[in-house]
Amino acid sequence: MLQIDRRALISSLGGAAAVAAMTHEARADAMEDALHASMQPEAMHAEPEGMENVPPPTVAQLDAEITTRSYRRGVGGLFLNTKPGGKVDHLKPLPAAPTLIDFFIDRFRTNQHCLQSANKAMHSGADEEIILACFLHDTVQALIRTDHGWWGAQLYAPYVPERTAFAINYHQALRFYPDKEAGYVYPDLYRHTFGVDYVPPPHIQAAYKYARNHKWYGAARMVTVCDLYAFDHSKVMKIDPFLDIVARHFKNPKEGLGNDNSPVAHMWRSINFPDTPL
Ligand SMILES: [Fe+2]
Ligand SMILES: [Fe+2]
Repeated sequence: MLQIDRRALISSLGGAAAVAAMTHEARADAMEDALHASMQPEAMHAEPEGMENVPPPTVAQLDAEITTRSYRRGVGGLFLNTKPGGKVDHLKPLPAAPTLIDFFIDRFRTNQHCLQSANKAMHSGADEEIILACFLHDTVQALIRTDHGWWGAQLYAPYVPERTAFAINYHQALRFYPDKEAGYVYPDLYRHTFGVDYVPPPHIQAAYKYARNHKWYGAARMVTVCDLYAFDHSKVMKIDPFLDIVARHFKNPKEGLGNDNSPVAHMWRSINFPDTPL
C-alpha cells in the first residue's frame, strides 16, 4: 500500500469538512497531486493509503459533477491549474530549435511518472523501443488528456520507431483490461477516475481487441505493466539514464520540434506556446 500522509493531505485540502464537501473527482485529483508531491508518481494510478474508505463514485455521480467545474476533465495539464484559486505560471522560453528533452524538462507535466515507468522497464529487461515508449507514454497529457494514447502516438509517430508509437497508442486501451499472465491488474484509481461501474466505450473495446491480437501486443502491455508498480519510493528519478536511448531512437528535427513542418508540428507549437490566444 502506498504511503501518504493522510492528515497532511486532509489539512492541505482545508480540513475534514472541506474534504467531505469535495466532489469525487476533486478527491481523485487531490490524491494524484499528493502522490506527485510525495514523489511516488510511479504509483499514481493506485489508491493511496487513507483513501480506501472513500467509496468510488458511480458513472452517474461523475456525470453529475460535470457542471460543478469551470473546466472539462480532458484538458491538458499545461493549460490549467485545478487547485482552488490556483494560477498558471510563467513558462521558461525554449531554445529556438527545441528538442524532445527541452519539452520534457520545461513543458511536460508527468515527468516523474514517465521516468519511473521507463526505469521500471529498463530494470525489467525491456528493449530500448519499449523503454522509450514508457519514457513518453503520458507526456502528451500536457496538451490533452482525452484519448491520450492516440494523441501521444500521433505526436511521436514521425520521430520514433513504429513499435514505440504503437505501444504508446495502445497502452491507453490496455489499461482497462487485466492480464494476469503479464502481471497487470485493473488500477484502483480508475474506479475513482472513471466510476465503479464504468464500461469502456466501443472504440476502447475495439482497440483492445485489435492490440490483443497484434504482434506488438507485448510492447503495449509492457507499458501498462511498468505504469503501475512502485519500485523505489525514496528516489527522485533523473533523466540522465535515458538520454542515450532518446539519442538513439528519437529523431529530433534539425529545425526543432514545431518548426519542421511535419503533420504534427502545430501540436508541438501548442505545447511550446500555450499562452498564445489563437
Ligand atoms: Fe497513460
Ligand atoms: Fe501512466
